[in-house]
Amino acid sequence: MAAVLKPASARTLTHTHILGINDLTPHDITAILDRAEFFAGQRHPRKSLQDKIILNLFLENSTRTRVSFEMAALRLGAQVINIGADGSSVKKGECLDDTLRTLACMGADALVIRAGDNGAAQAASLLFKCPVLNGGDGTNEHPTQALLDALTLRSHFGRLENLTVTICGDIRHSRVARSNFLLLTKMGADVRLTGPQELLPADLPATPDMAAALRNADAVMMLRLQKERMERTLHLNEADYFQRFGLTAEKLSLAKPDAVILHPGPINRGVEIDGALADDPKRSLILKQVENGLATRMACLDLLLA
Ligand code: NCD
Repeated sequence: MAAVLKPASARTLTHTHILGINDLTPHDITAILDRAEFFAGQRHPRKSLQDKIILNLFLENSTRTRVSFEMAALRLGAQVINIGADGSSVKKGECLDDTLRTLACMGADALVIRAGDNGAAQAASLLFKCPVLNGGDGTNEHPTQALLDALTLRSHFGRLENLTVTICGDIRHSRVARSNFLLLTKMGADVRLTGPQELLPADLPATPDMAAALRNADAVMMLRLQKERMERTLHLNEADYFQRFGLTAEKLSLAKPDAVILHPGPINRGVEIDGALADDPKRSLILKQVENGLATRMACLDLLLA
């Protein structure tokens, strides 16, 4: 359980860390999105994090999340130390707990952590005396991704309440799907989860009927097949998967006529989405999500540290 701070106001959050959407109140979520909107497009914001040192510990591959956390910190005037699995003692067999205990002694001002173990960020928050931000822990949560997705939807539609958002693909292994489900439900949206039966989670409401899930949706979020997390090989090959669950113009026509497309990336074109749809500027908000990722991470760092 994250430590509780003073009561939330527009510029403070309820907790000292961002570990998962479960810890955030609707008020916290709105405060982060408002702050992110303030930072969006600001190339030279006030350097509110000058003299702060942020550890970026990324033990799983990442392009968007790692770079945007680093860029967000640099834009706010902080200094960043990047640590990956390669080049650290993780490669020498050191376990995660020992790596965390070691880094915790160095007195950073914040830790951003991505790791393959569910609960890694929570474990770090018990060892570090500074704010910890979860950049994705196993199949559990990816709260800043859900926040940037919410910012993208809110900017496009002007609200989150009563939106119908269909999330499709490998839901079972997706921390993005889980965090989005929790956040959007909390904010009054209707979230539908769909994908092949074998990739649906046991603990969230989901259907293998993609057509039904797409009907009249305002937004469709596609997910990558996370083969690195699958215990067994998928029954469908990639071509069959694309035919049944890949987003095509035909499948998208089941959603509202002006429905938008999201994808957290990385995209596997021709597997979960037709590449032309991903590139369609009238429907796809995928690059907008990346842009909003930077503003969202600036907002999180600023609200927790400044
Ligand atoms: C996602 C992740 O790492 O969970 N990517 C991201 O952070 N933008 C989704 C994925 O890897 O498929």
